[in-house]
Amino acid sequence: MARLLQRKKSSSVKKYAQEKSTTVRVIICRDFAKPAGARLVGFFGWFLMILITLGRATCKIKNATAHPQGECMTTNLSTTQLINQQFRLAARPQGMPKDSDWQFTEVPLTELNDGEILVETIYLSLDPAMRGWMNDGKSYIRPVGIGEVMRAGGIGKVIASKSPRFAVGDYVSGGTGVQKYWQGAADDKHGGFYKVDPRLAPLPKYLNALGMPGMTAYFGLLDVGLPKAGETVVVSGAAGAVGMTVGQVAKHKGCRVVGIAGGPDKCDFVVKELGFDACIDYKNQSVKDGLKEHCPKGVDVYFDNVGGDILDTVLTRINMKARIVICGAISQYNNTEPVKGPSNYLSLLVNRARMEGIVVFDYAPRYGEAVAEMAKWMQEGSFKSREDIVQGLQAFPQSLLMLFEGKNFGKLVLQVGQE
Ligand SMILES: NC(=O)c1ccc[n+]([C@@H]2O[C@H](COP(=O)([O-])OP(=O)(O)OC[C@H]3O[C@@H](n4cnc5c(N)ncnc54)[C@H](OP(=O)(O)O)[C@@H]3O)[C@@H](O)[C@H]2O)c1
Repeated sequence: MARLLQRKKSSSVKKYAQEKSTTVRVIICRDFAKPAGARLVGFFGWFLMILITLGRATCKIKNATAHPQGECMTTNLSTTQLINQQFRLAARPQGMPKDSDWQFTEVPLTELNDGEILVETIYLSLDPAMRGWMNDGKSYIRPVGIGEVMRAGGIGKVIASKSPRFAVGDYVSGGTGVQKYWQGAADDKHGGFYKVDPRLAPLPKYLNALGMPGMTAYFGLLDVGLPKAGETVVVSGAAGAVGMTVGQVAKHKGCRVVGIAGGPDKCDFVVKELGFDACIDYKNQSVKDGLKEHCPKGVDVYFDNVGGDILDTVLTRINMKARIVICGAISQYNNTEPVKGPSNYLSLLVNRARMEGIVVFDYAPRYGEAVAEMAKWMQEGSFKSREDIVQGLQAFPQSLLMLFEGKNFGKLVLQVGQE
């Protein structure tokens, strides 16, 4: 399915957009079990190959490193012939980000130094957290500076390498930033790149269930939410990247799962496609009534992606010793007023319940556990993921807003290059 994405362009963006005046949006909803390559390898092969791709050592010849398929590849590519295209943060937004908060720049690349790689970005992960990184102030990660390239995770292809860690042709995931090319030292302090294998799963999946949102959902639910079989788990943002994985993991653990999402299509998707037990369409029905109807035994675990009124309402339905996982509060990210906290928090006292935050990066040493279990479910065909792919780097400013308007249906990804 494709549709045109309308957007206003800032003057700096217009220059680039003249070349590509329209953008096409593609929705992908595929079962992991389907890629032919993935079918050929069993689960153990699948997981082993993911581990291998994360850590494989490559040959040490300068400018010629080992390719995943085994051969050595060299490049004579002169990086100085290439022009990078970037979105930089021009101003700290008040409320919803505006086009004028961005600066579109075109800069020539420089020659690679020893130890460096050049990555051509293919897919960018658009995340609600990006809104927080645009603000000044203390957080779990430093803010993006004014004039800096906007921070973003992405998947790309190594097109030049002077590092023994990566070969030309390798597909990598890491901190590409919102730009066409990433150039720098191939170490963990810079892009933090690791190899991914498109033969094992479509590349966008590495930004979804096999990437940061999937890890957030898995560890947030299991380590902080501590669900037990038979308990009722409620998750907001249920049709989004984190929410869809939370619900499916909870189903696999034997829980009753109730989603909260905006609109009948998203609710149908989580119930009919993902197997949730019920879904409350918060845009068309009362969340309080929905919880009464679908959680007759109360709420044991609430995985909160949205904060605000929905969090406040769920607090009125929690059980004794309930666990509230504070993953995000997207309803509050564009506030010009202070964040609205829950007024029903004394329900935690009455029910001896607990509310705890999660930051996904704390679980980095354990990501392999999540990949192993979810990969198994994918192989069995009992775990799905959906990506919503928007085309073109120039669509970045308007595409980011889709997250805050509920216009994304699945993990929001921006395709900026060809596989
Ligand atoms: N703590 C961590 O380490 C961590 C890591 C990743 C993500 N997160 C957080 O997890 C949450 C979900 O992220 P995601 O990447 O999975 O995004 P997502 O759910 O794929 O997309 C955002 C969705 O939020 C919903 N939404 C937007 N405004 C809303 C509002 N005012 N009230 C209720 N729902 C609203 C929309 O869905 P509807 O159409 O259903 O409204 C929208 O599609 C975010 O809060 C994010 O910051 C936290």
